[in-house]
Amino acid sequence: MLLDARDSQDASAVARAVGEAARTLAAGELVGLPTETVYGLGARADDDAAVAKIFAAKGRPADHPLIVHVPDVGAAQVFAADWPALAQRLAARFWPGPLTLIVPRAPGVGGAAAGGQDSIGLRCPAHPVAQALLREVKALGVPGVAAPSANRFGRISPTRAAHVVEEFGDALLVLDGGDCEVGIESSIVDCTRGHPVLLRPGMLSRAQLEAAAGEPLADPDAAAPRASGTLEAHYAPRAKLRLMAGPMLNTALQMLEGSTLKLAVYSRTVPAPKAVRGLRHRRMPDQAAQAAHELFSALRELDAEDVPLIWVEEPPADPAWDGVRDRLQRAAAA
Ligand code: TXA
Ligand code: MG
Repeated sequence: MLLDARDSQDASAVARAVGEAARTLAAGELVGLPTETVYGLGARADDDAAVAKIFAAKGRPADHPLIVHVPDVGAAQVFAADWPALAQRLAARFWPGPLTLIVPRAPGVGGAAAGGQDSIGLRCPAHPVAQALLREVKALGVPGVAAPSANRFGRISPTRAAHVVEEFGDALLVLDGGDCEVGIESSIVDCTRGHPVLLRPGMLSRAQLEAAAGEPLADPDAAAPRASGTLEAHYAPRAKLRLMAGPMLNTALQMLEGSTLKLAVYSRTVPAPKAVRGLRHRRMPDQAAQAAHELFSALRELDAEDVPLIWVEEPPADPAWDGVRDRLQRAAAA
């Protein structure tokens, strides 16, 4: 069921929607919730039985850790055995915002959410509805909300409330906070290794993160903890997605002129060929932030055309595109 908490609603209607979602979470049930990155499928993080419902609904293996969402740094420390100076520097600069920090987990709390690991992923989201919800559940004695992206395991992350309903059906209570502004998942920095490790790129640039950390970010090695968002094949549409450099995509499309092949094309510089009858074209925005904002809904829409193939033009090599490139590479690996 959708509960409208968009900013087009009046404040008291939003407060009622948030209140109902908070009581549902406190009672140990699941709620779909908006964040500025993507929608999450939430459960109270201090209740292993509630968290187990997330794994069951998503079809996600129980040893894949989830992110715990907190209203502030104080609440984060409920779940942390230790709050490294590095985590503090990054949180001070980027929270609330699209950044997840991996820190040592406090024993006895958040075990199921952490997938049994002795570390835990924490994020303070900036979306005003998420903030209001987290403050409200805190008042009900809930220190944090575990929430992976609200999609079935391995599939495209949701950036609209309607996507969450598509994934889980109408029985789930979903707080509608409008379209997610950022559009791809948070950057994840592991703060448990003595030096920062970028486990997943997002829309915060490496340069911004390094400036706040005061040191370079390392890339994950084989010893890095498992992150399902870092599995090769992820974010998969039903169609086979291929990523191609602009010139190659252009040549391939020219070879199709006059044919009736069914396919979808998502390109930034390569124009749509005129004489391919089964072709659906969508233009990728020129700016990385705009491309991230619409990436998952564009892939969902192209996938809904029931084409067997989606050809996507490779994003520019610029670091501003790291997050978008990462998601497209994973979608292509599926
Ligand atoms: O933007 C986001 O981060 C969204 C919204 C809902 O906040 N959430 C999200 O959650 O993307 P999920 O579960 O789809 O991805 C969480 C990522 C996974 O790759 C997971 O493995 C990693 O965070 N993660 C969580 N806890 C971890 C830990 N203790 N160690 C290593 N990776 C961890
Ligand atoms: Mg996910």
